[in-house]
Amino acid sequence: MKKIAVLTSGGDAPGMNAAIRAVVRMGIDKELEVFGVKYGYSGCIKNNIIPLGARDVGGIIQQGGTFLGSARSKKFMTEAGRKDALANFKKLGIEGLVVIGGNGSQTGSYALHQMGFPVVGVASTIDNDLYGSDITIGVDTALNIALEAIDRLKVTASSHKRAFLVEVMGRDCGYLAMMAAIAGGAEAVVIPEVPTTPEEVAQMIIEAYGRGKTHGLIVVAEGAKYDALALDAYLKTRQEDIGFELRTTTLGHVQRGGAPGAFDRTLASRLGARAVEELVAGNSGVLVGLKGGDTATTPLVEIAGKHRPVDPAMFELARALAN
Ligand code: F6P
Repeated sequence: MKKIAVLTSGGDAPGMNAAIRAVVRMGIDKELEVFGVKYGYSGCIKNNIIPLGARDVGGIIQQGGTFLGSARSKKFMTEAGRKDALANFKKLGIEGLVVIGGNGSQTGSYALHQMGFPVVGVASTIDNDLYGSDITIGVDTALNIALEAIDRLKVTASSHKRAFLVEVMGRDCGYLAMMAAIAGGAEAVVIPEVPTTPEEVAQMIIEAYGRGKTHGLIVVAEGAKYDALALDAYLKTRQEDIGFELRTTTLGHVQRGGAPGAFDRTLASRLGARAVEELVAGNSGVLVGLKGGDTATTPLVEIAGKHRPVDPAMFELARALAN
């Protein structure tokens, strides 16, 4: 193998730049020529591919987002789209690909692998829903951004004796909300994995008020059946019983755009470098993630169609500590 490419795909995550840098620098260390694909799989199809040297990835380790750009490509989901991508790789002599991204992105990696093209995935999404990695690139930073917001909201909530609904990202996964609730000291947490009715949420806040709390913080995952909008509408009808006045904040993409912290920079560096080692060793069709503190590979075939479940014990902890 002499030439490889790297791309970032799906929602950007803090640490993606550090992972690109690791792929390029480890590739050079292994005497490979490295290319960067702009805007994910769509860049493969449009031949938007640039050579990357060691200096091209200087000064990016501390930056959020991805300097290569990212996208979700419908065309790449078709076999015709993937064939166009492979034809472009062939023209440039590219013999292997590193895909930095989450679930949808790794479905694309698996499809390429099945077509006989060497590909290795790197686990990266703020949602932490990727089977095959205990934690993915971007989660820790996104969680810290949510916490910074929650800490501030708690201060103003206490000043005014208010309840705050805070909606955090995570698509269909409650991990970020659950961990933000534990670390942020929330009075209630609502995630898709544990059905919770608006009446139950109201009860938790009424009880918090009764225990003498000066604020009621409710962390809601965006994928919950009753999201912040639905809970806001219901809780406002119960204002008299609840005691606290209610306000609602949706964090949304604010959580994605931050500069990566030390954990994500080091995780990205380790996973990106390991991905190159796997490609060079001839191991195609695997995801590189973190298991039990070490980098580890999982065959993409085992990941397809699965999601990493949230730990029920953590959810119990979040609710128990709300007292
Ligand atoms: O998968 C990452 C993520 O940020 C999810 O948490 C969120 O549901 C989704 O992407 C938002 O996607 P978009 O950037 O397309 O709005």
